[in-house]
Amino acid sequence: MCGIVGYIGKAQAAPILIKGLSKLEYRGYDSAGIAVFGDQVQVVKAKGRLAELDEKVKNMGGVKGCMGIGHTRWATHGAPSDKNAHPHTSMNGRISVVHNGIIENYIQLKSELEKQGYVFVSETDTEVIAQLFDSLYNGDLVDTLIRVIGKVRGSYALGIVCSEKPDEFVAVRKDSPLLVGISEDGNYIASDIPAVLEYTKDYYLLNDNEIVVMKKDGVTILDLDKNEIKKDIYHVDWDISAAEKGGYDYFMMKEIMEQPKALKATISPRLDNGQIVLDQLKYTDEDIKNINRIHIVACGSAWHAGIVGKYVIEDLARIPVEVDLASEFRYRNPILNKNDVCIIISQSGETADTLAALREAKRQGIRILSIVNVVGSSIARDSDDVLYTWAGPEIAVATTKGYSTQVALMYLIALKFGQVRGCVSAEEAAKLVAELESVPEKIEQLFALDGKMKELAEGHANAKDVFIIGRGIDYAVALECSLKLKEISYIHSEAYAAGELKHGTISLIEEGTLVVAIATQDTLYEKLVSNVKEVKARGANVLAIAKEGNTEIAEVADEVIYIPAIDDRFTASLDVIPMQLFAYYVAVARGCDVDKPRNLAKSVTVE
Ligand code: F6R
Repeated sequence: MCGIVGYIGKAQAAPILIKGLSKLEYRGYDSAGIAVFGDQVQVVKAKGRLAELDEKVKNMGGVKGCMGIGHTRWATHGAPSDKNAHPHTSMNGRISVVHNGIIENYIQLKSELEKQGYVFVSETDTEVIAQLFDSLYNGDLVDTLIRVIGKVRGSYALGIVCSEKPDEFVAVRKDSPLLVGISEDGNYIASDIPAVLEYTKDYYLLNDNEIVVMKKDGVTILDLDKNEIKKDIYHVDWDISAAEKGGYDYFMMKEIMEQPKALKATISPRLDNGQIVLDQLKYTDEDIKNINRIHIVACGSAWHAGIVGKYVIEDLARIPVEVDLASEFRYRNPILNKNDVCIIISQSGETADTLAALREAKRQGIRILSIVNVVGSSIARDSDDVLYTWAGPEIAVATTKGYSTQVALMYLIALKFGQVRGCVSAEEAAKLVAELESVPEKIEQLFALDGKMKELAEGHANAKDVFIIGRGIDYAVALECSLKLKEISYIHSEAYAAGELKHGTISLIEEGTLVVAIATQDTLYEKLVSNVKEVKARGANVLAIAKEGNTEIAEVADEVIYIPAIDDRFTASLDVIPMQLFAYYVAVARGCDVDKPRNLAKSVTVE
């Protein structure tokens, strides 16, 4: 949510900033801007996609200078416009700021600054940082930044350039991501690694309120008492090509196709001779046996993965599981007991509500196990134990491989805990592990449905409403399939527990309404077939998803998509694949920007 990049070094800054922003566009894309220090600080901003900014800069004949900051915006305060785009500059032009986050007390600060004569031109919270910095400026960027931090409340990742300091700029973060890339040729700040990957693979991670002084030949990191902090250098082990489209029209399709690989990377290292080895967890068998209750907390698709987790953990490990939306959990004063465990799920590891929920659970003293994709992210660093999903960088706003790898870890946890607690016998575990290992290959088989899903999607591209029904784990996956469809194609869709439909929602089914019926639980299959009959009787057009061999459903549904046979517990990993393809092709048929759906951003770092 908003992307920041900054550069100081030997090269021209503007092309580096714009290229860096292009890799961060998934974080917000309603406007963009740069401030580059040449003879003076030059600020260029444009409403719309980054291409608009690029065009503007080219029409100006480029912007010269070897130091600068840039921003791609996801609007929170103030509609997308040139005026509200970052960088924001103090009234006298001295200070320019890019910001990701929210300044909660900006109204109060703004009115104090207005009393001092500062005039504001935008509707953003960020402009107060520029004016406040200017009002407190004493010739020293670090001193001033420390005083600014003392006055603002909220979350921020900031890059700040001053027209009186041609050789340095400063940066800081609190509850919003920011890293520092380092190289011989120059140094960088960025909200995420892909922005700097073309130039360096070495970087520092920052903790809250660590101040960075960026110079051409070095980076200094200081605490709020101006003591220097020595940091470990992290090294990225994936290549820039992993963050590029690789011949696909959209990242989403590339990431759908990467799922078998991502699942293998997540599952295989945790299996040894048919045994599940979660040695990244510091849990003894005794700890696992003593778990009283699990609270899974997450947002969006990660929450959907958590719901799959509830079904499998309760089934296999017989531990009661509650699944909460992070935005609710953090404020509802949850009851957490000593032997409870909180499982936090987040692809980015930076989602503001999820991070706040983690801190609430921590405040109450319970153990935190997080499932995260981005190594070294805030959630990973704040947790007692971390299991990484090895999905690689996920760029498309709508998650695919991120979700699938989260689900895979739910399975591994359920199986491991089930075995340790004596609920799953060695024989059954071996059978289930073999099934789990077959998932990546079965997903490959499902890719053969690509053409069929495209054809179905094109036939339904004008649907007004789509209902997706299922029971048990099929219901959990219906939630994810429904979100995929609505977020990228803008078709209204609802997921419903199939048995619940007749308690109200069935009144919305009319002639031709598309109902996707997920019927892949053997134990619930007949019940689902009855639900299909109910909606058919009201005129629905039914697309069913069933397991190979369960052909009776073809007699009642209009179309049936078959997934390879697999144990009921693992169907979520397969059901979601045709529906990801369906959502993708509906979005393409409707002319939507698949990777950058309207109003959305990849990493929701504001509340
Ligand atoms: C939907 C989607 C979102 C995220 C949610 C949580 O396709 O991607 O619903 O799942 O914003 O994000 P993370 O997992 O980064 O915490």
